[in-house]
Amino acid sequence: MVYQIYPRSFLDTTGDGIGDLPGVAARLAYLRWLGVDAVWVSPFFRSPMADFGYDISDYRDVDPVFGTLDDADHLLAAAHTAGIRVLLDWVPNHTSDQHPWFVESRSSRHSPKRDWYYWRDGRNAAPPNNWRAAFGGPSWTFDEPTQQWYLHLFLPQQPDLNWGNPAVVGAMHAVLRFWLDRGVDGFRIDVVHLIGKDPALPDQPVELGPIDRVGIHDDPRTHALLRQIRRLVDSYPGDRVTVGEVNLHQTSAIRSYYGAGDELHMAFNFLPLAAPWTAAGWREVIEVVERDLGRDAWPTWVLSNHDSSRHRTRLGGSEGVSRAAAVLLLTLRGTPFLFQGEELGLEDAVVPPERRVDPAGRDGCRAPIPWTRTSAHGWATADTWLPWPPYAESRNVEDELSQPGSILHLYRRLLAVRRASPALRHGDITLLDAPDAVLAYRRSTHADERIVLVNFGDARVDVPVNGHWKALVSSYPDARWSGALRPREAVILQPYTAG
Ligand code: NOJ
Repeated sequence: MVYQIYPRSFLDTTGDGIGDLPGVAARLAYLRWLGVDAVWVSPFFRSPMADFGYDISDYRDVDPVFGTLDDADHLLAAAHTAGIRVLLDWVPNHTSDQHPWFVESRSSRHSPKRDWYYWRDGRNAAPPNNWRAAFGGPSWTFDEPTQQWYLHLFLPQQPDLNWGNPAVVGAMHAVLRFWLDRGVDGFRIDVVHLIGKDPALPDQPVELGPIDRVGIHDDPRTHALLRQIRRLVDSYPGDRVTVGEVNLHQTSAIRSYYGAGDELHMAFNFLPLAAPWTAAGWREVIEVVERDLGRDAWPTWVLSNHDSSRHRTRLGGSEGVSRAAAVLLLTLRGTPFLFQGEELGLEDAVVPPERRVDPAGRDGCRAPIPWTRTSAHGWATADTWLPWPPYAESRNVEDELSQPGSILHLYRRLLAVRRASPALRHGDITLLDAPDAVLAYRRSTHADERIVLVNFGDARVDVPVNGHWKALVSSYPDARWSGALRPREAVILQPYTAG
């Protein structure tokens, strides 16, 4: 299981109201207690923060708001001592407009770095093509001094790097080496499906309408670039890993980014973020993933991250549903990614207009993590960059640790049960017949077997299961099995053996 840390919101140790790397290091014991195998840390590199770190102005240094390079080294060493692997968030598609490469590229049409980015003439007064940026508007900005447009698939402060230029490839590979040499275990790679581009930058079909480019850009040039990245990462000792954000909507398209086992180790698949909370909806998601990824592309599972509403909020706010979702997330075939705070059952913060800071309206899920019940909730100040999530006075680590029936203890139990079962870790998944409101599947290896049942409904439901089974864990605080699920209950069954 990979736990996503959004460092701005994890824990502040300095009193500026923004989380930092020493804050992450200070809670490794908690992550170890929870049963986390690896953390993915969202960007902490130098950045003007137009997109809160996804606009990087120096890939080889830590932004002062998060600490220093020494803090990053210390975090890595301490995580490894705790048995936790560390994935960094590498942003290859774009830099900040304040990155020295772009500053130089922008300075003149004859700059040696002009071709490190996409500069084009417009079509009369219009942009060079019809691509739309992810956060609205055209994906081109006109630069008065040199009278050309530059491409940015996100904010104007995030110009796209030209990966068609070998010097860019070399410079970005050097960034990977810089961090691999320091001992990182791999990378979550931001919108990696965007790096290959046809240098002609042709219009997208007009019949697609004004949809943003990010969800449809699928250029074959990216695959060769990924193979080079994979070779570089694999040349390091140990099991270094890449998980790429491929923000396409078709699982079959995502599949191609695994290559023949020579591109990404794993790719995100955001299908579950749009899945309705119904047994039929989830049956379909599992069928699509199994069919379209096949045997060779190892799936990933994401219910929440720093770009979307927390799933508790998205699915209606109930504790029962978030507990059942925990059982689902941690028992599917593939690697689960858990966004910080999901283990506490957090909901999105309600952010009043005057405190909104994100250009894409994602503040709610990025609220600070409450560690204690005091007014500053364990942070160095109560005056945090975003407001606390709802019920922080009771939904916090301190309180939930003290309650054996809390969702926090459920997550810990699920992770322990997963670790102990080869069937849950890497076994096959087989969907089983079940009543309408229930999703049922078997996870199995030749020597190990578990059955998972999830009741999406609000009523008790009988579920006939052949053979003898007992409840290993339930989303309710007491695990029991007598052939029926309670409302919104999810259980993991294991074969019953007498004695
Ligand atoms: C995806 C990241 O998850 C998101 O937070 C960011 O805004 C865009 N990529 C641009 O880097």
